[in-house]
Amino acid sequence: MNRPSDGELVAAARAARERAYAPYSGFRVGAALRTDQGEVVAGANVENASYGLAICAERAAVAAAIALGHRRFEAIAVAGPGPDPVTPCGACRQVLREFPRGVDLEVLCAGEAGERLLVTTLGALLPDSFGPDSLAPPAADRAPNPPGNPPGVPRTPPGS
Ligand code: THU
Repeated sequence: MNRPSDGELVAAARAARERAYAPYSGFRVGAALRTDQGEVVAGANVENASYGLAICAERAAVAAAIALGHRRFEAIAVAGPGPDPVTPCGACRQVLREFPRGVDLEVLCAGEAGERLLVTTLGALLPDSFGPDSLAPPAADRAPNPPGNPPGVPRTPPGS
């Protein structure tokens, strides 16, 4: 498969935008992830009558990709309405931080049409971030699994 270009990734985000469910804000957003293997997985924002339950396009794309078995992302394109590039919200930045490329994820921010593009990285958008690596405790603090727990079962939480 030919690896999709950055321009094609932006086009996929813009196409996903058309499928957004945004009846409350009218702010339709599309996102498209490119995996390390060159697959493209898109998402769009999904709003709700209970406004606070809105799901952003970026997180919709992550959920779709995970459900399809992809975890290694090299880039995400985001496209919103109007001419100015739309950047991921803080919550989505943190969600994107979770996956292997971490702060080196390429982030392409676009408007609904035209050439204006903000090309950046997750690290620039989310400096000094907290990620999976931040959770690794120093060896001395690491409690052993209780006898009989198979590897991979979380250790007993402190105090229990
Ligand atoms: N939204 C996104 O989908 N992604 C962003 O990066 C910014 C905001 C959505 C959430 C909500 O449905 C609408 O845009 C207005 O905030």
